[in-house]
Amino acid sequence: MERVALNADLDLSRIVYGMWRLAGDADTSPAHVRAKIDACLEQGITSFDQADIYGDYESQAVLGRALRAAPGLRERIEIVSKADIALISDKAPGRRIKHYDTGRAHVLASVEQSLLEMGLDYLDLLLIHRPDPLMDQNETGAVLDELVTSGKVRAVGVSNFRLFDWNLLQSAMKTPLVTNQIELSLIHSEPFRNGDLAFLQERGIPPMAWSPLAGGALFDGANPALLARLSEIGAAHGTDATAVAVAWLLRHPARIIPVLGSNNLDRIRRMAEATRITLDRESWFELYQLGNGFEVP
Ligand SMILES: NC(=O)c1ccc[n+]([C@@H]2O[C@H](COP(=O)([O-])OP(=O)(O)OC[C@H]3O[C@@H](n4cnc5c(N)ncnc54)[C@H](OP(=O)(O)O)[C@@H]3O)[C@@H](O)[C@H]2O)c1
Repeated sequence: MERVALNADLDLSRIVYGMWRLAGDADTSPAHVRAKIDACLEQGITSFDQADIYGDYESQAVLGRALRAAPGLRERIEIVSKADIALISDKAPGRRIKHYDTGRAHVLASVEQSLLEMGLDYLDLLLIHRPDPLMDQNETGAVLDELVTSGKVRAVGVSNFRLFDWNLLQSAMKTPLVTNQIELSLIHSEPFRNGDLAFLQERGIPPMAWSPLAGGALFDGANPALLARLSEIGAAHGTDATAVAVAWLLRHPARIIPVLGSNNLDRIRRMAEATRITLDRESWFELYQLGNGFEVP
């Protein structure tokens, strides 16, 4: 599998496995999590996406139990995590309202918790999860720089940022931000038109795409024409609609890194099939049109 360099020291596999849904699986045993990780590694998928809040703050511990049971595994993979969303949860007693917190204390505590839960010495990549309207760029920029300097995280980036949010934070940092993880799929293609992708592409910064299958909505019957065409193209390549939907993102010159989130072992085993498909321009636009519901002007 192709690798995508985020900086001189860190690269990710071209497809990343996302663990948002991990703690919601019926089987969260270390053996089953290990089977998912092994299915990824067999395809060259070595990068795993986490966040402090996933699974109501449980997902990192689920991964941690699997890593502790498999000495040496951590060194073979890259782990991404995120900080700043503060959920209402039994694990956060006294919190009155869901909010964002990019303050120094919250970001440091979140990283320490992530390291503890997953049993790690360092995160490969830390993302600020969502733009915080109360972000003081000097405070947040300084704590991100400090986390890189101390070696607790190898690289830092953001998620769900618009270009002005990116510029604000980056303007107060020494460390270059390495990615923006944004929602991107055939039925969420606004970033292709609103400048979000162009901004990253101009700077040579690979975007990560969350919910590349629209969280499963591509398959729920809401857009039968799109699903039928994805399936036809998939069949012509000896694969399925999922692989074509991911290949559609891979075709973009910004070097999009899709973050796939299936809990189904059979689907996980086939995630790399997308990398075998190169869509021609007309097929790409045909899917774009079906996803949007209108022809390009
Ligand atoms: N940065 C952010 O703000 C943010 C937000 C959301 C997510 N994320 C990241 O992105 C990752 C991926 O998100 P996601 O899980 O929504 O991605 P996704 O891959 O678009 O959706 C996965 C969902 O689609 C279902 N699915 C896949 N193929 C299917 C098929 N052929 N038929 C029916 N259902 C199908 C899966 O069900 P099965 O399990 O049954 O396969 C699963 O429920 C997350 O794990 C997380 O790491 C980040």
